[in-house]
Amino acid sequence: MEYYSFLLGLLAFFLLGRLFASADIVEFDENYEITWGYDHVLLFNQGREVQLSMDISSGAGFGSKLRYGSGFFHMRIKLPPKDSAGVVTAFYLTSQGDKHDELDFEFLGNREGKPITLQTNVFADGVGNREQRILLWFDPAANFHTYQILWNQHQIVFYVDDVPIRVFKNNKNIGVGYPSQAMQVEASLWDGDSWATDGGKTKTNWSMAPFKAHFQGFDIGGCPIIQNTNVQECYSPKYWWNSEKYWKLDSKQQIELENVRNKYMSYDYCSDRPRYPVPPPECLLQ
Ligand SMILES: *[C@@H]1O[C@H](CO)[C@@H](O)[C@H](O)[C@H]1NC(C)=O
Repeated sequence: MEYYSFLLGLLAFFLLGRLFASADIVEFDENYEITWGYDHVLLFNQGREVQLSMDISSGAGFGSKLRYGSGFFHMRIKLPPKDSAGVVTAFYLTSQGDKHDELDFEFLGNREGKPITLQTNVFADGVGNREQRILLWFDPAANFHTYQILWNQHQIVFYVDDVPIRVFKNNKNIGVGYPSQAMQVEASLWDGDSWATDGGKTKTNWSMAPFKAHFQGFDIGGCPIIQNTNVQECYSPKYWWNSEKYWKLDSKQQIELENVRNKYMSYDYCSDRPRYPVPPPECLLQ
C-alpha cells in the first residue's frame, strides 16, 4: 500500500513538474546562439541556463537564430550581485542595418547596496532617445525575474513579472515611428561605465570581476520571418499576441502601469524639458 502511494506521489510529482516546467525544457541551442565573447559563456543544466561573464578582457552576448516580425518575448534574468557599477545587462530586440528598430531592457549596475536602474528604450527607423528609467520593487540580483516585451501592430509593452511598466503605442498615423522591421532577440553583458552609473561618474570596479549574469527561458513566442515570408503574415490573428486582448492594456493593467510610473519611475524622456522643450508627439498621446 505504502509502496503504491509512493509510486502515485512520484507520478504526480513528475506530471506536475512537466506541466510547470514545460517552457523551461527548451534548450538554449534550439533558438539561440552565442554571438560574441565565446569564452565568457557557460551553459548549465543541459542548456536550460546560461551564464554570461564579464572581466576586463571581454563581456559576452547571445542572440536568436531567427528574426521575428511580432511576438511576446521573454527572458528570466538574474543580474550580477554586489558591486556592479558600470556593468550593463541587456535583453532586447533589434533589427540589422541602417535606420534600425530596437526595443531595450537595460539594467544599469550600481555600487553594492545602491539600487540597479532598469532603463527601457524604443528605436524606430534609427531614432531612439526615448529613455525611461525605473527602480525595481525587488533586488534583481537576488533571484530570477521575468522580463517581457509584447510587440504587435497596436502596441509595444514592456513587463516585469507580468506587470506592465511601459507602453509605446503605434502612432504611425500621426508620423511617429513604429518598429516594423524583422528583429532578433538578444542578450548581453558589457562594460558601460562611460555612461551607465551616475551618468558615467561611477566606474566599474574591476577588482570585483568577473561579473556574472544568468539567463533562463529559451522558448520564443514570436512570428519567425523565414526568407521570403511576407512580414504582413506576422500581423495575422492566428498569433495570439495579435488578438484584440493585446491591442491595449485592460483597466487592471492600466492601474498597475500608473502605479509603477508613480512609485518607481526615476526618469522619463517625455518630461525632460531641458532636453525636449517641446515634448515628442507620442508623449502627448500615451
Ligand atoms: C573595489 O573593490 C575592492 C575589493 O572589494 C575594494 O577594496 C575597493 O574599495 C573597491 N573600490 C571602489 C572604488 O569601490
